[in-house]
Amino acid sequence: MSEDKKPIVEIKGVNKIYGDNHVVHDLNLTVYEGEFLTMLGPSGCGKTTILRMIGGFEEPSEGMIYIEGERVDMKEPFQRNVNTVFQSYALFPHMNIFQNIAYGLKMKKISKAEIKERVEEILHLVQLNGFEKRYPSQLSGGQKQRVAIARALINRPKVLLLDEPLGALDLKLRKEMQIELKNLQKKLGITFIYVTHDQEEALTMSDRIAIMNQGYLDQLDTPENVYERPATRFVADFIGESNIFETVINKISGDTVNVGLEVGNALGLIDDNFSVNMSEMVYACVRPEKVKFSKTEIKGFTILGKVKEQIYVGNVIKSNIILVNGQIVKLSRMDIDEAPKIGDVMYIYWDVEDVVLIKSRSFQIHNLIENARLGGD
Ligand SMILES: Nc1ncnc2c1ncn2[C@@H]1O[C@H](COP(=O)(O)OP(=O)(O)OP(=O)(O)O)[C@@H](O)[C@H]1O
Ligand SMILES: [Mg+2]
Repeated sequence: MSEDKKPIVEIKGVNKIYGDNHVVHDLNLTVYEGEFLTMLGPSGCGKTTILRMIGGFEEPSEGMIYIEGERVDMKEPFQRNVNTVFQSYALFPHMNIFQNIAYGLKMKKISKAEIKERVEEILHLVQLNGFEKRYPSQLSGGQKQRVAIARALINRPKVLLLDEPLGALDLKLRKEMQIELKNLQKKLGITFIYVTHDQEEALTMSDRIAIMNQGYLDQLDTPENVYERPATRFVADFIGESNIFETVINKISGDTVNVGLEVGNALGLIDDNFSVNMSEMVYACVRPEKVKFSKTEIKGFTILGKVKEQIYVGNVIKSNIILVNGQIVKLSRMDIDEAPKIGDVMYIYWDVEDVVLIKSRSFQIHNLIENARLGGD
């Protein structure tokens, strides 16, 4: 997001602790006006908790939250210019669609004429004109979902918080709704903070993705960057498919490094903001589509493997290559002519710019513990 964008939600040093359960760790996050920001992570990583703190349904144990420059973390939900769409649509079953959507405006004592006008406008927006008199039980999942969104949008919030809003829909409808929601967001220019554990959904809809790992923000970046340049091993593993090798830096020549794997050597690139030392341990991550193979040795690469199995997934041919230590390397190709054959023995390599090197403290600690346990030094 460019620098000239205006911050709309700012989360500063926020922690959330329930009893002895520390569920959000020192979170710093700025969301910009008009942005579609997605919080992505596995179950229990703290996504809903963060959303609830922004919405005002939960207070941070520590830290501050600002909306449009004003501190709100002590304020009630209705005092914040945000609205929330919860996963369970929470429509009022005894009210028809018109009444459900009008509810918020009625509470604000807005005139009948204006309410009617605004409900009509919003129904048109979510393509539900003519549904005013129906009751929630007479709607499909996707239609209920749109009513829930209409009900949140009618208040004209600056920020819309959405907690897995498409979670209950089947795959086809979910895909359609993803496009509808994205279009709606663009059209209205409202800031969306969207929660999902579905990486594909996050990658297709978002301007930026915040990837949460056990209460920590591991990476905040564009869909392209979280895929191409994962910042942590967790992100590399969580987003798409990746081959992750534990390696040691053997040699540094300029921006090229030679890394040692358990089963051979390989090359990688370092850039200005990534410095490494000799003998340092790093993860080398390579996407299956970037793995190359050759019958003859490629300079700098000595990893030998054998094609163990192959599967077709749609139009992608996925090969599993087994290395001498038993590790499986995943390789994928769109074209059968470019895929290896089962039983082929070959060298594995990659273009140096296609490998992402990731430092990991935990990897080092893990190895220290492992060494200690094995009686090593
Ligand atoms: N009121 C509460 N009291 C105690 N612990 C809670 C409370 N609410 C949430 N937690 C814990 O906080 C952690 C984060 O929960 P949260 O609901 O934010 O996860 P999530 O990322 O939204 O997961 P999911 O994808 O399953 O919805 C979990 O370990 C959960 O058990
Ligand atoms: Mg949740």
